[in-house]
Amino acid sequence: MIISWVTTLEPGSRTVLYGTSKHNLNRSAKGKLTRYKFYNYTSGYIHHCTIKKLKFDTKYYYAVGTEETMRKFWFTTPPKSGPDVPYTFGLIGDLGQSFDSNVTLAHYESNSKAQAVLFVGDLTYADNYPYHDNVRWDTWGRFVERNLAYQPWIWTAGNHDIDFAPELGETKPFKPYSQRYPTPYKASGSTAPYWYSFKRASAYVIVLASYSAYGKHTPQYTWLRAEFPKVNRSETPWLIVLMHAPWYNSYYYHYMEGESMRVLYEPWFVKYKVDLVFAGHVHAYERTVSGQTTLSSSNHQSRVLRSSAQSNTPILMRNLICYSLVAA
Ligand SMILES: [Fe+2]
Repeated sequence: MIISWVTTLEPGSRTVLYGTSKHNLNRSAKGKLTRYKFYNYTSGYIHHCTIKKLKFDTKYYYAVGTEETMRKFWFTTPPKSGPDVPYTFGLIGDLGQSFDSNVTLAHYESNSKAQAVLFVGDLTYADNYPYHDNVRWDTWGRFVERNLAYQPWIWTAGNHDIDFAPELGETKPFKPYSQRYPTPYKASGSTAPYWYSFKRASAYVIVLASYSAYGKHTPQYTWLRAEFPKVNRSETPWLIVLMHAPWYNSYYYHYMEGESMRVLYEPWFVKYKVDLVFAGHVHAYERTVSGQTTLSSSNHQSRVLRSSAQSNTPILMRNLICYSLVAA
């Protein structure tokens, strides 16, 4: 489990105290500290601490900070993987930090069964503000803490997480995102934090990076080609893939942005029988009805765009925007 937190004025303690009893945090793990600058912004002290060798399916209490600044939370570790092990994921993407963002998070929180969030990219939308106002990365962390401190969120990188701004002298993509939201990518043999995989209960989850190179011979392509044959469907019968830009989208906005990745990777998805693909990016609701692709959303009139009979796309993979998933 990776625990991350920020201290604003001083580095403070790097240590996480934890234990299975609320009143006896008898173990500790030491984390790492990082800071970054983005144009005229300097971050607080960003702590990341990985706690290893935890027991499956166990509630742990933990604390960060010391004395009067100490804050206590808890999390439950996932169960051991197996074909019949139930698990409930929530699915959130394109969250931001508006009134609607709060409605979305509150809706997720109202489901008491939910154990982890599959987050399909676009976290803070800080890049919509002057100089990519990185204070918004801080405020977003405060906003989601109420859930994120108690259960794992699985990160996918979106276009609003790139923060490539050469006009500000910021030429390293994903700087705030990668400094603040680490992923366990090395465990799956990945060479970058933006694409990786993990097993969770009866599911095998592959996270792809829509905004990292994915063409033939790139690191992501080579990794994914080797990854699919590793999935043991007897152990994890559900095969789920996350990405930010959807491959199938007939909405006018972001139209065909996922097309080149689809051309490259779709044959593998079909061959290896991917069950579910979740993506974000397109803020519209779309579904197939009676052999036609129809589009509807709250602020645009419904209209039939094209017949799915013209496409070889499996129906299974066409309904991309869902809200929650019970993987059991
Ligand atoms: Fe997006």
